[in-house]
Amino acid sequence: MEPPAKPRLRILSGVQPSGKLHLGNYFGAVKQHIELQTQGECFYFIADYHALTTIQDAAVLRDNTRDVALDYLALGLDPGQAAFYRQSDVPEVTELAWILGTVTNMGLLERAVSYKEKIEKGIEASVGLFTYPVLMAADILIVRSNLVPVGKDQVQHLEMTQDMAGKFNRAFGDVFPIPNWRLDKESKVLGTDGQKMSKSYGNTIDVFAEGKPLEKTVMGIKTDSTPMGQPLNPETCNVFALYSLFATDEEKAALAADYRAGKIGYGGAKKLLKGKIDAYFTPFRAKRKDLAAHPDTVEDILRAGAKKARAEAQATMELVRKRTGLKR
Ligand code: TRP
Repeated sequence: MEPPAKPRLRILSGVQPSGKLHLGNYFGAVKQHIELQTQGECFYFIADYHALTTIQDAAVLRDNTRDVALDYLALGLDPGQAAFYRQSDVPEVTELAWILGTVTNMGLLERAVSYKEKIEKGIEASVGLFTYPVLMAADILIVRSNLVPVGKDQVQHLEMTQDMAGKFNRAFGDVFPIPNWRLDKESKVLGTDGQKMSKSYGNTIDVFAEGKPLEKTVMGIKTDSTPMGQPLNPETCNVFALYSLFATDEEKAALAADYRAGKIGYGGAKKLLKGKIDAYFTPFRAKRKDLAAHPDTVEDILRAGAKKARAEAQATMELVRKRTGLKR
C-alpha cells in the first residue's frame, strides 16, 4: 500500500510595499524566500493593509505595491509554485484580526518593541499601528501556515501569533497550527559607507539600478585613501565585501591576492564589482522590464494568487465562525 502523502509544509510571508529593493533586502531575505518555493506550499503577499499605518498617499501605495509585485516576479517568484497576492484582496483577514483581537491581551501588544520604535521615529500612534501584530497574526493563521520566514525584527510578532493561536485553540478547540518562524540570514551586506546597508542610512545599492546611476553609486563607495600600487587589505574593504556576495571562492581568492600585492586599486575593484552586479542582475532586469510592459499579466497573477489564498481563508473562517458561535 502507498504510504499516505505527507502534508506539505505551508509557508507564508508578507512584504511591506516600502519602496526600492536593495542588495541587503535581496541577499538577506528575498533570495531565500524565493528558494523556499520548492520546500512547501508557499503563500507570499504584499502587506498593503499594513502599509496604511505609514503610507497615506494613494499614488505612493499603488506605485509601491506594483513595484514589489514586479520585483518579486522578476527575481524568480513563480506564481505556479507560490500563491502571490495583495493582502487587501483577501478581506477575510480583517475579520479574523477582529476575532483574534478578542483573545489578545492589551499587555501583550503594549510590550511590542516594533510599535515603540515606530512611534519613536515619529510615526503616528494610531490604533492600526498598535494592533498591527494582530493583523499580522491573522495573515499567518488564516491560511493555517506552519512556517514564516522573517527577519529578526519580526520574531516578537511571531511569538505573539503563537500566543493568539494557542489562546484561540484553548477557548474554541484546535483550529490553528502553531506556526514557527524561520530566521532570514542575518544581513551582512554593507552599504556604500561601510555601515550595514539600510534605506534609513541612505547607503543602498538598489537591485534594479543600472547604467550610469549604478556606476555612480558603485564608484562612490567609501574607501580609505591608500594610493594606487600600495597593498590593500581585503578584510576591511567594503568593496571587497560586496564583491564577495557575487564571486566564487576562486574569484575571491584571486582578488584578495591582487589587493595584497598592490596590483589593483579601489577604482579597479569597483569596476569588477559593477561587472558582477550587472552580470548577476541582467536577466532579472530584462524580466522586470517585460513585466512592467504587461501590467495585465501582473494583475492576473495577483488575482489568481488571491483566489487561491481566499479559498483557504474562507474555509478557515467557516470553521472559526462555527467554533465561536457566530454561525450555527
Ligand atoms: N510585518 C512584516 C514586516 O514588516 C510584514 C508582514 C505583514 C508579515 N504580515 C506578515 C510578515 C505576515 C510575515 C507574515 O516585514
